[in-house]
Amino acid sequence: MDLAFVSAPQSASGPDAIRAVLAFDGGALSPAADALGGVAEALARAFRFTGAKGQTLDLPVGAGEGRVLVVGAGARDAFGPAEAEAAAGYAFNAAKSTGARTLVLDLRGLSRELAARAALGAELASYRFDRYLTREKPEKKPSVTRVEIVADDAAGAEQAAANLQALAAGVRFTRDLVSEPANILFPAEFARRVQAIAIPGLEVEVLGEAQMAELGMGALLAVGQGSRRESQLVVMRWNGADDATAQPIAFVGKGVCFDTGGISIKPAAGMEDMKWDMGGAGVVAGLMHALAGRKAKVNAVGILGLVENMPDGNATRPGDIVTSMSGQTIEVLNTDAEGRLVLADALWYCQDRFKPRFIVDLATLTGAIIISLGADLAGLFSNDDALAGDLLAASAAEGEQIWRMPMPPAYDKQIDSPAADIKNIAAPGAGGGSILAALFLQRFIGEGLPWAHLDIAGVTWRKKSDHPSYPEGASGFGVRLLNRLVADRFEA
Ligand code: BES
Ligand code: MN
Ligand code: ZN
Repeated sequence: MDLAFVSAPQSASGPDAIRAVLAFDGGALSPAADALGGVAEALARAFRFTGAKGQTLDLPVGAGEGRVLVVGAGARDAFGPAEAEAAAGYAFNAAKSTGARTLVLDLRGLSRELAARAALGAELASYRFDRYLTREKPEKKPSVTRVEIVADDAAGAEQAAANLQALAAGVRFTRDLVSEPANILFPAEFARRVQAIAIPGLEVEVLGEAQMAELGMGALLAVGQGSRRESQLVVMRWNGADDATAQPIAFVGKGVCFDTGGISIKPAAGMEDMKWDMGGAGVVAGLMHALAGRKAKVNAVGILGLVENMPDGNATRPGDIVTSMSGQTIEVLNTDAEGRLVLADALWYCQDRFKPRFIVDLATLTGAIIISLGADLAGLFSNDDALAGDLLAASAAEGEQIWRMPMPPAYDKQIDSPAADIKNIAAPGAGGGSILAALFLQRFIGEGLPWAHLDIAGVTWRKKSDHPSYPEGASGFGVRLLNRLVADRFEA
């Protein structure tokens, strides 16, 4: 999508453009709508348009003006950045199939911060993964390819939008990765796409199976050994702090490019969803993209554990005992509890090599978190109240919801194994699957290191969209949350 900030409408009339103005609750129109005279207000009343959030009304308003889209913006005194973002998204969705090529979003009368945030809303709402729709009829494709934001201080708004544009680019990168099917996006291809990010200062290293074997990553490698695709560990580094040698913060992502369950194979129904079992790694990659894109003043490391979990003559069997990089042995009782094996080694490697200030990991780790929290909230598990508090604050500020879950120490013995140091699942019927998975990960976190784990299995893929910034499909949930954590904790 093409985006421009202008101080007066450039493509305001004619069939190629549609002009959008805001209306607040009660039908009062934003100052930008004054030019319409009483026409729009009278029409709006006739159509029971109240200005409630998400309402839109497409009005033909005479020869010179072309058409005007009136967008409900909710109560005027509650209209802030989140509302500006949503209003722009609703405007985009209402305009995208009208045949107009340009959406002129008239935000005169609003601050440049609100105009910038509206641009983010249009940007995120316009995301569409259509790479493989080779026969889609032109009239089925969205017609709007350009959004013009009209703002009193267009130059100021554009400046205010620069960081948000970098954030949007990161979210789009994540959504693209998560949307790709597993025949296209296997570990080496994922790594290649990360290497292809051309942002100066963003360093990318890729380790293959031989190097990981050298390092003793028997847990991660056990997951990938049934696949024809080589497992990869990707290390992304961005050193943007004033002291480029300062201790970094770290993000670690589960990147299971496809999860069949392995020998503990999953049922056929819905298995296609497991193409997005690399969502955690996708978020880490998109986050690093965003941080580097906006030159964040922080030193950050991103680690992606990339594997494919397949049943095969060489696959790990239930009952196998593997040795992780930490030295701890793991009895693999269910090969479908594979994400924790990948993270065990990725987390250890991260601590061993980078001695980070804290680690946040993200993983589509358990079906149980969907049962607990549904499709809107991610599960937060942490050994550190300060880090958990910062994440909750970032969540409230950014609107990506998380809920802190308990990690009762007494549950930990459920993953003791009689045959190895730890087993990868508890006894059948134990319940609390997401908690036990988090307790498993905690065994690979060194004493005293602040750590948080986000179980994003429920929020990574939206089957239904209820917010224009999160269309159906890959959500990118987590990129904004963690970008905000960095901004508030290191750049405020
Ligand atoms: N990738 C799945 C979890 C998942 C399920 C993500 C649904 C997204 C949607 C994970 O690897 C898995 O299979 N977990 C098992 C763990 C069990 C075997 C202890 C699960 O949740 O059933
Ligand atoms: Mn699994
Ligand atoms: Zn999985």
